[in-house]
Amino acid sequence: MAAPLIAPSILSADFARLGEEVRAIDAAGADWIHIDVMDGHFVPNLTIGPGVVKALRPHSAKPFDVHLMVSPVDVYLEAFAAAGADIITVHPEAGPHVHRTIQAIRALGKQAGIALNPATPAKTLDYLIDDIDLVLVMSVNPGFGGQSFITSQLRKIEAVRKMIEKSGRAIHLEVDGGIDAVTARCCTDAGANALVAGTATFKGGPDHYAANIAALKGTD
Ligand code: DX5
Ligand code: ZN
Repeated sequence: MAAPLIAPSILSADFARLGEEVRAIDAAGADWIHIDVMDGHFVPNLTIGPGVVKALRPHSAKPFDVHLMVSPVDVYLEAFAAAGADIITVHPEAGPHVHRTIQAIRALGKQAGIALNPATPAKTLDYLIDDIDLVLVMSVNPGFGGQSFITSQLRKIEAVRKMIEKSGRAIHLEVDGGIDAVTARCCTDAGANALVAGTATFKGGPDHYAANIAALKGTD
């Protein structure tokens, strides 16, 4: 099996040195840069806005994987697209018309992702699968880094993998939350091809990023 794509979540980076941190994970082998946007309303935390995304854009040529945990979400799509997002992922609970949101992301020329919270069923994808580029299975409840992996989500990853195969489309299956070298393997065995990792990437500081990413990929 091919090694999974690793998308370090900069939520666990040193916010006082964000540009340097992005350059360090890029050099250490990150495939995508995962940016967690939280509004203090849809989730109980406040993080990053489009201004920060724009400021980080010159620091890496790798895809910016922007995870929007904001509601309402449609009003912010254009700002994140202009700031340099490549993939924009939204939660179906974040707006009244998620299909319209997906259409809006693609009309901006960006890849569109759907995030499924732990209690949100795979079935939510039934009428979206033909229009999306990525599914993000949340293996923690969104809001914070450093939480424990919820194992029931492995069944959902398997179910989503089957739906993707059936669709015949090239859709990424990414998992977010509580990923370490052990849970990473469980997720790839279940069918994931991309993994978000905050705590596990940034632990130990910059000297450890390359080894941390290799451990997540299983190439160490
Ligand atoms: C949670 C975020 C995650 C989180 C992952 O709401 O979407 O990306 O930061 O953090 P770790 O890898 O520490 O569980
Ligand atoms: Zn995330």
